[in-house]
Amino acid sequence: MQKNDKQNIVLTGFMGTGKTSVGKRLASELNRKFVDTDELIQERQGISIPEIFRQHGEAAFRKMESDIARELGQQEGLVISTGGRLMLDPANAAALSQKGRVFCLVATPQEILSRIKKDKEHTRPLLEVPNPSEHIVELLKERQQGYNRFQKIITDDKDPAEVTSHLLDMFRE
Ligand code: S3P
Repeated sequence: MQKNDKQNIVLTGFMGTGKTSVGKRLASELNRKFVDTDELIQERQGISIPEIFRQHGEAAFRKMESDIARELGQQEGLVISTGGRLMLDPANAAALSQKGRVFCLVATPQEILSRIKKDKEHTRPLLEVPNPSEHIVELLKERQQGYNRFQKIITDDKDPAEVTSHLLDMFRE
């Protein structure tokens, strides 16, 4: 058995950096179970993320994220794609780093905006503002230090297949 056989792969990074698409590909390449924290929360609540924000508020959503981080932190052999802020909470990061290797996907604000606009399936409540482009820059600034703690992968000009193959190389190093 190789040393990395059971270690979870945890993907973090800002909204629109491709965590879900890359995570799905990675899981399929490695023949692993894929878990997306947003999808899991939606499944369990039976409503969408924007609806959770509307009905219960952001603080309740963050609590759901923390519960899931603790739960997944006990498991092994997963590819986990996390909501954009989940790993910026130190307790969540500690829980998921215990048995996991964390990679942070990075993209420029312009690229993020263009990907988010194309992603009609997932709307982001935090970006439902008059000037999303400006808000992305502000949020990125706020979160930069947090994301900097993790190993980074630049995704601009790369499609999910290329990012996946780069990640696989890094994971196997
Ligand atoms: C959020 C990111 C979203 C989702 C929620 C809040 C954030 O996930 O968890 O809308 O605060 O960055 P994605 O990063 O998958 O878009």
